[in-house]
Amino acid sequence: MKLIFLGPPGAGKGTLATLVAAEYKIPHISTGDIFRTAIRNKTPLGLKVQSIIDSGQLVSDDITIELVQNRLMEDDIGGGFILDGFPRTIPQAEALERIIDIDRVINFDISDEDVIARLSGRRMCKNCGQNYHMVFSKPAVENVCDKCGGELIIREDDKIDSIKKRLEVYRKQTAPLIDHYKKQDKLTDIDARPQAE
Ligand code: AP5
Repeated sequence: MKLIFLGPPGAGKGTLATLVAAEYKIPHISTGDIFRTAIRNKTPLGLKVQSIIDSGQLVSDDITIELVQNRLMEDDIGGGFILDGFPRTIPQAEALERIIDIDRVINFDISDEDVIARLSGRRMCKNCGQNYHMVFSKPAVENVCDKCGGELIIREDDKIDSIKKRLEVYRKQTAPLIDHYKKQDKLTDIDARPQAE
């Protein structure tokens, strides 16, 4: 099962991908998580992409494609995988088609209002990157990560100006992928509005 999770920022792709990947024991490959780990560890990649990500822009296709290409060469992808946040542009989709065949693309359908509600309430663990939501998915102890005890922070790109920029970038550069995969008969739309339990 080789899947792509496609959708606007804050649609719940990462939350659902974590559950599906655990259920089917396949890797969850999130380009956003890979970049954020690089930023936390202050690697050369992290230093290069930090300001781009904080402002809500996309990292260049060259960097992102190389990253995913390398990840897809690792030993654990034989039983399938979920790509979360990649591809995000037509050139990325075309590059992926030269690397590997995808079975299905799950398109998360959600309004801008719901996106803003989710992202403005999101908190992330500073140490391990685990996500929470102040209303929909609270930690047991306020501002403390259930998994590692780390402090919860607001992602720099979850500030309102960055959220607006990310929605604009999504519409311009990522939404055309919906038609791209529809034409290949690979698209399944899901209603991403129902609230997580
Ligand atoms: P990335 O991390 O991929 O950001 P994104 O696509 O904007 O997605 P998010 O992580 O914001 O949201 P999500 O859909 O995963 O929602 P989540 O499950 O967390 O990328 C970050 C940046 O990296 C990009 O802006 C770009 O700069 C760069 N980048 C990454 N990939 C790239 C690429 N391919 N090319 C170029 N640049 C790239 O949920 C959000 C919140 O809602 C959480 O608080 C959660 O608890 C809550 N929630 C989730 N589901 C529900 C639900 N059903 N009901 C209620 N609350 C819910």
